[in-house]
Amino acid sequence: MKILVLNGPNLNMLGAREVDKYGIMTLDDINKELKSLADTIKVELEIFQSNKESDLVDKIQESLGNFDGILINPAAFTHTSVAIRDAILAVNVPTVEIHLSNVYSREEFRHHSYIAPVCIGQICGFKEDSYLAGLRVLTNYIKK
Ligand code: DQA
Repeated sequence: MKILVLNGPNLNMLGAREVDKYGIMTLDDINKELKSLADTIKVELEIFQSNKESDLVDKIQESLGNFDGILINPAAFTHTSVAIRDAILAVNVPTVEIHLSNVYSREEFRHHSYIAPVCIGQICGFKEDSYLAGLRVLTNYIKK
């Protein structure tokens, strides 16, 4: 099974950025934990981060026929991007949306996601564990 892990803007700054909300782990630290879980459950991962919406749209389009599922933290694009939503709809690859922080306990503009309605589900608020839980539920969903 092959899973594409996508990270949106500013997630390359984890570890230094608003640590009260996002924790002290860097994206590299999180990726190491994800890879270790992926080895345990025998899943192949490709991990990608970009600050550009178009890069994420391109990656989602390329997932068609190449990946069984997508795990995505769209970051700020969660609340703005019709393009990412449409790309997920276009490829129809099972997708789980994740967030480090609990977006529903924050500013009102973070309460709306353009992405969640086209995903299997959403996990938020567990910092790096959102990624690990997301990988587990996504792979279980695909297996079933
Ligand atoms: C985030 C939540 C978003 O609202 C925010 O723009 C981010 C990170 C999270 O993981 O908690 O950049 O996606």
